[in-house]
Amino acid sequence: MKSFIDKYILPNSSREYLRRYNRSFGQTAENGMVVLDAGAGEQPYAKYFDHCTYESADFEMVDKPYAKSTYVCDLAQIPTADGRFDRILFNQVLEHIPEPSDVLSELFRVLKPGGSIICTCPFYYEEHEKPYDFYRYTQFAHRHLFAKAGFEIDRLEWLEGYFGTLAYQFQTMALRLPLAPQRYLKRPWWPILFWPVIAGLKASAALLAALFYRLDLACKITDRGHPKNYVILAHKP
Ligand SMILES: C[S@@+](CC[C@H](N)C(=O)[O-])C[C@H]1O[C@@H](n2cnc3c(N)ncnc32)[C@H](O)[C@@H]1O
Repeated sequence: MKSFIDKYILPNSSREYLRRYNRSFGQTAENGMVVLDAGAGEQPYAKYFDHCTYESADFEMVDKPYAKSTYVCDLAQIPTADGRFDRILFNQVLEHIPEPSDVLSELFRVLKPGGSIICTCPFYYEEHEKPYDFYRYTQFAHRHLFAKAGFEIDRLEWLEGYFGTLAYQFQTMALRLPLAPQRYLKRPWWPILFWPVIAGLKASAALLAALFYRLDLACKITDRGHPKNYVILAHKP
């Protein structure tokens, strides 16, 4: 059902762009390379690293399903040797880390010289995985934090285009705008008039979300508006 909605009703462009970036990161990994998925959760991108030795680390503290982790640990202290990994995946995790510099330094430590990392991180997204949700980052914060840990950034860009940000805003409107008129107006006779207006707004927002997600996949506008996520590709010199 979830994949039917994802494919035909609301084709979430963020998920598709996340898949594309991680798939192409996997394609650049050579056979037998050792890969760490840091904060792996359900390990949605493990399949792109079948030709590698894939390991994962997660503290497994959130009330949600997890795939089995190689290392159940805080990312600030990964129980493995310096320079073990050729590649690191770090998707949608940085915002959950209270002390980001400590974790980026630890990822730098476990990455081989010449090894590379992909990081995706929201700039605009609702609070989630509470209470482990601490920050939203601008591109300048990413540049600062990655450089401070010792990484060199190869690419830093929007994950989706502005249509993706708008689609997400419309989706939020469709799902979260209260339908009960009493939430807006106290007068007893208004609800009858007001309910169709709110219901119409929510339905229009759902349609616009579906349209804008599709537009975002067809054309990624990144020179105006604001991003929903950034993607950073960096390496250890
Ligand atoms: C939003 S999920 C992303 C999961 C996965 N990377 C993905 O893209 O689907 C964030 C993950 O980071 C993990 N996490 C958050 N803080 C962590 C920490 N300090 N140490 C280890 N894992 C952490 C959570 O358990 C969760 O699985």
